[in-house]
Amino acid sequence: MKVAVYLPAAEKIQWWVDMLKGLLPGWDVVSLEDVGNPDAVDYAVVWRPRSGDLARFPNLRAIVSIGAGIDHVLADAKLPAQVPIIRTVGSDLTQRMREYVALHVLRHHRDMPRQLRAQSERDWHAIVVPVAPRRTVGVMGLGNLGTAAAQTLAGLGFATRGWARSSKVIEGVDCHSGPEGFARFLDGCEILVNLLPLTDATRGIMDAALFERLPQGACVINCARGPHLVDDDLLAALDSGHIKQATLDVFHQEPLPQDHPFWTHPAITVTPHVASQIDAATGGRIIAANLLEFAKTGTCKDVADAARGY
Ligand code: NAP
Ligand code: GLV
Repeated sequence: MKVAVYLPAAEKIQWWVDMLKGLLPGWDVVSLEDVGNPDAVDYAVVWRPRSGDLARFPNLRAIVSIGAGIDHVLADAKLPAQVPIIRTVGSDLTQRMREYVALHVLRHHRDMPRQLRAQSERDWHAIVVPVAPRRTVGVMGLGNLGTAAAQTLAGLGFATRGWARSSKVIEGVDCHSGPEGFARFLDGCEILVNLLPLTDATRGIMDAALFERLPQGACVINCARGPHLVDDDLLAALDSGHIKQATLDVFHQEPLPQDHPFWTHPAITVTPHVASQIDAATGGRIIAANLLEFAKTGTCKDVADAARGY
C-alpha cells in the first residue's frame, strides 16, 4: 500500500512519514511531493491539502484528515468525489478540549479579565459572581468534543445546555436540537462555546442575530473554526458592550494577520489554534490503526459523512 503525506508545515512532513513507516511495516509511506507514479497512491494523509493535490491520484482509496474536522479537505473544489474521508479523533483530543473549555469558561465565569485589570491598578476589588449552578452555559455541537465539553461543564456544576442537529440525552445537560430549538438554547445563555463542524449550515452562525439573542454581558468562546464567526459582528457586539468578552482560538485566516483588530482588542483573548491539537504520536497510532482497518474491511469507525460535511 502506498501512502502520500502532506501538511502545510513542510518541516513536519518527514516526521509524519517516518512515524507512519514505523507503524505500517511493509507499507510505502512518502511525502506527497515524492510519490513518483500517482497511479500507485492508495491513501493520502493530509492537513489542509492544496487545491488539486488529491485529484492527482486516480486510485485513491481513502483520505485521512490529520484532525477531527474535515472542512479543510472538503474545501478543495477539485476533491475527487466519493473517496471516503477518515477523521482522526481520540481521547487526547477530547481531553485537551475539555481542559481548554473548562479554563476559558471558568475564566469568564469568575471575570478574571476584570480581576486582572484591578490587580494592575493595585485595586483590592472583590468580584463576587454567582455560583456555577446559577450560571447558564451552552455548547453548540454535541459530537465527540462538544459532548465531552458539556459533561465537563456540568461536572463543574454549571447550568449546562447543549445544541446539536439531532436530539440527544446527556446526563446533566439540557439538550436542544435543530433550528427549532436554537432560540430556546440561546435565550439566557451567559457563556457560549462553539464546537460545531464548519459546514454550509454553520458558516457564519456566530453573527449579529446570535449575539443579540444572548443576554447582556454574555461571553463567547469559539474553538471550532474561524468562519463560524462574523468578525465585524463580534467587534460591534463587543464595542456596544452587549457581549462582554470573547475567547477565540480559530480564525478566517491562520496565522491571524498581524494587522487584525482581534490582536489588540481589550475584550478578546486570542489563542493560536491550540485548543486541542492532535498529539502527533497518539494521532499517528490512531491513523495507522484506521488505515489497517480500512485496508482490511473497506471502512473504519472514523469515516466521516462527506455529504453531511462532518
Ligand atoms: P463531531 O463529532 O462531528 O460533532 C459535530 C456536532 O455538531 C454534532 O453533535 C452535530 O449534530 C452538530 N452539528 C453539525 N451540524 C449542525 C447544525 N447544522 N446544527 C446543529 N448542530 C450541528 O465533531 P467534533 O469531533 O466534536 O469536532 C467539532 C469541531 O471542532 C470540528 O469539526 C473542528 O472544526 C473543531 N475542532 C477544533 C479544534 C481546535 O483546536 N480548535 C480541535 C479539534 C476540532 P449531530 O450529533 O446531531 O450530528
Ligand atoms: C483541529 O482543528 C481539528 O480539526 O482536529
